[in-house]
Amino acid sequence: MRVRVFATPTALARALARDVAHALGTKPRLVLGLPTGGTPIPLYAELVRLHALRRASFRSATTFNLDEFLGIGPEDPQSYRAFMQRHLFAHVDISPRRVHFLDGKVRSRRAIRDECDRYERAIARAGGIDLQILGLGTNGHIGFNEPGRSLVARTHCTRLKPATRRANAPLFGNQTAAVPREALSMGMATILQARRIVLLATGLAKARCVERMIRGPVTPRLPASFLQLHRHAEVWVDEAAARNLEG
Ligand code: PGA
Repeated sequence: MRVRVFATPTALARALARDVAHALGTKPRLVLGLPTGGTPIPLYAELVRLHALRRASFRSATTFNLDEFLGIGPEDPQSYRAFMQRHLFAHVDISPRRVHFLDGKVRSRRAIRDECDRYERAIARAGGIDLQILGLGTNGHIGFNEPGRSLVARTHCTRLKPATRRANAPLFGNQTAAVPREALSMGMATILQARRIVLLATGLAKARCVERMIRGPVTPRLPASFLQLHRHAEVWVDEAAARNLEG
């Protein structure tokens, strides 16, 4: 995996926003896979800034977000859909009909399966994902592919680990108990089918996980390690997250 180290999270965000703007310029109908979480917030802020300067246009682009909480609707301020609206979509020229999300409001197991299948078909119909941007859970998850004895290949419903629910508490008034127990997520094969992948990790809390992801074995105990199997996977980190990679 190609590793790029930046002095600060801001420097990383600026470089990646320029990279995305360039990709949009080269291929206006770019299909982007997008993450939520704290790490990509500076990237989205920088993309909004470049858009205001007319240096990035999303007019013909398509997006697919990685995951969504089960039981939370798109209008709910705690949804990842609302997060993306706040941080990116409301401020750029993307067409709402080309923004794709998993619908967390599905109820029956049958409806959940249908929703996951619909998402896989929508990605395929869009021609697949050109650039998938990923965050990294401190437990090694990507999307909501949580560590365990096995992984699920395709878009699916998953139980969230306690650490993941704690990490998402800020969206729910700092109440971990209010964070849904289940979520819908692209699967590992869905992610690995993207033509290019850029994983972002910033801060010391990610240093150990970054080291294991790059240097350790490929294992479902650390889902991000599967990126080692991808031809065009890049890891963009700040110096803090890269600390264990020295030497
Ligand atoms: P974070 O989350 O960016 O808020 O650290 C990353 C993730 O859980 O994927």
